[in-house]
Amino acid sequence: MNYTERINLAPSIDALEKLRVELLGKKSAISEGFSSLKNAAPNEKAKIAAALNLQKEELSNAIAARKAVLEREEFDVKASKEAIDVTLFDFSDLGGSLHPINRAMEEIVEYFLGMNFDLKTGPLVEDEFHNFEALNLPKHHPAREMQDTFYMNDGMALRTHTSNVQIHAMLSQKPPFKMIAPGAVFRRDYDLTHTPMFHQVEGLVVDEKGAISFANLKHILEDFLNSFFGDFSVRFRPSFFPFTEPSAEVDVGCVFCGSKGCRMCKNTGWLEVLGCGMVDPNVFKAVGYENVSGYAFGMGVERLATLKYRAGDLRSLYEGDLDLLERFR
Ligand code: PHE
Repeated sequence: MNYTERINLAPSIDALEKLRVELLGKKSAISEGFSSLKNAAPNEKAKIAAALNLQKEELSNAIAARKAVLEREEFDVKASKEAIDVTLFDFSDLGGSLHPINRAMEEIVEYFLGMNFDLKTGPLVEDEFHNFEALNLPKHHPAREMQDTFYMNDGMALRTHTSNVQIHAMLSQKPPFKMIAPGAVFRRDYDLTHTPMFHQVEGLVVDEKGAISFANLKHILEDFLNSFFGDFSVRFRPSFFPFTEPSAEVDVGCVFCGSKGCRMCKNTGWLEVLGCGMVDPNVFKAVGYENVSGYAFGMGVERLATLKYRAGDLRSLYEGDLDLLERFR
């Protein structure tokens, strides 16, 4: 094997370096050739030196070329080992966000705070007095079944609506006041438009007798719905609640079918979003209020959120549906 062949077969940069020392280093034949030049005959010196230089240059070039090849190979191996797979999912983009229900609830509360309502909260586990009796729903009243209740062992229950906060508020302060109470409520219900836990925002305004009318109630709810939805059709429909008289339910035109009728709106073209009315005198009596008037309302946050964000099946809000949740990032 001649020198150039050995160079071209050097298996690694280390091996090539050893070869370079052997071929061109101080103890190499070429270096010895240069040192013995002084002993050469004067007329031969130039010839020998030229031959040595040529050989040295050839070897140097061959080594440099082989080195470049080996370096390239080494780089390729390293690059393939350390390569970044750019198709991998970018986790840095997975920031959290408010759940659509919290977001809707915050937006609702924000509106009423802007209208000078005070923010209140009440217990989720409630006694029958605050959840029912004081709200004119005596024991064995058939309307109690409107809201199938989760009872606990000790006569307590999971509150079926945020209206219990009305009673806490009235028992703890004197009118006039305006309050708003957002929170979770619980009913034994589960289908396309009902989940066993959902959220309401309760409102209650109490002032002296004659100061509050149904017109005030209608005005603020219409203004709220306009600011929450923008351009939606809204209707007030006479209804019944034991704790308000007169009572109304408010419907919003079904956004899923453009009010044509679909399974979301049970073919009516309308979706109910809240209940409201003038506070029933029996409620004022239960909390010891005299000579006052007031209105109350309770709205379903999930309903408002599904309509606003077109979330479809209500249950999808609680199933960790990533496609849905990602729309809110
Ligand atoms: N509590 C009623 C419900 O859960 C809503 C409501 C609140 C109605 C206040 C009238 C006044 O359906």
